[in-house]
Amino acid sequence: MEMHDKDWDGQIEYLKNTRDYFWNDDYFEFLVHSVWKLNTPINIIDFGCGYGYLGLKLLKLLPEGSSYTGIDIGTDLLTEANRLFQNTSYKYEFVKADLLEYEPYQKYDLAICQAPLRHIPQYEKVLQKMISSVTLGGKVVCVEVNRRLENAGLYIQGYESELHKNDEWLHQRWQHEVDSGGRDYLLGAKIPILMEKYGLIDIAVRVNDYAEYISPKQKDYDLHKLKFLEEHQNILDNKADDVFALNIRSMIITCGTKSQITDENL
Ligand SMILES: C[S@@+](CC[C@H](N)C(=O)[O-])C[C@H]1O[C@@H](n2cnc3c(N)ncnc32)[C@H](O)[C@@H]1O
Repeated sequence: MEMHDKDWDGQIEYLKNTRDYFWNDDYFEFLVHSVWKLNTPINIIDFGCGYGYLGLKLLKLLPEGSSYTGIDIGTDLLTEANRLFQNTSYKYEFVKADLLEYEPYQKYDLAICQAPLRHIPQYEKVLQKMISSVTLGGKVVCVEVNRRLENAGLYIQGYESELHKNDEWLHQRWQHEVDSGGRDYLLGAKIPILMEKYGLIDIAVRVNDYAEYISPKQKDYDLHKLKFLEEHQNILDNKADDVFALNIRSMIITCGTKSQITDENL
């Protein structure tokens, strides 16, 4: 399902459904330990944290003493985030704020975001805030979608012609959104260039390697199918029989490092 509004509070189930099929844990761990080399306790700030999904994934892998601050505008999302964290031993804080207004009151070692920027037309301002919020030598990581790439990665057996119709329909919608000053469907591809524009160095770009495969032979098929139908109800209807499908989101993961020259570019 494509989001039509900004009310993410009403979309907790949608977010959870999709996040269940988003990362390979081994690849995420590879990023944290081998690529970003986060092997000492660090302080993290997550812009547009939703229900804290990334926080739980990160803190599980980081040394004790690390902390996580999640910023989001959604009251219900933050209530759910607090509920999920309350029985953990993690150091955390959730702050309700508009990312365009928010002023971080300390510096962090890592500013990260997963998928909020595409929904905020003034995303450059948010990226600048992310950069401002990290220490010298700190990292900024954006996990953002390029919708063209994501769309090309969707295959549903028996629905080939519907996929083509959907491609065309989406293309018109994305273009309309751009023309009317709304969301940017290509944002994931633009982030590396923007990071460089604002003076980050060592820009490194990767693509999330997770591919969601669904087939009736899977143990969790019934639940998986339900979630899949909900997300793709514009193509499939609830009466769809056996669903064989592949959904490759290809999220673009960009990491940059703050250096002496960064502040001059902000
Ligand atoms: C696609 S969701 C991603 C949530 C989370 N990062 C995840 O991956 O599960 C986008 C998030 O950005 C938040 N968001 C969008 N615009 C915002 C704004 N102007 N200020 C604060 N949060 C915002 C929404 O409330 C939502 O939680």
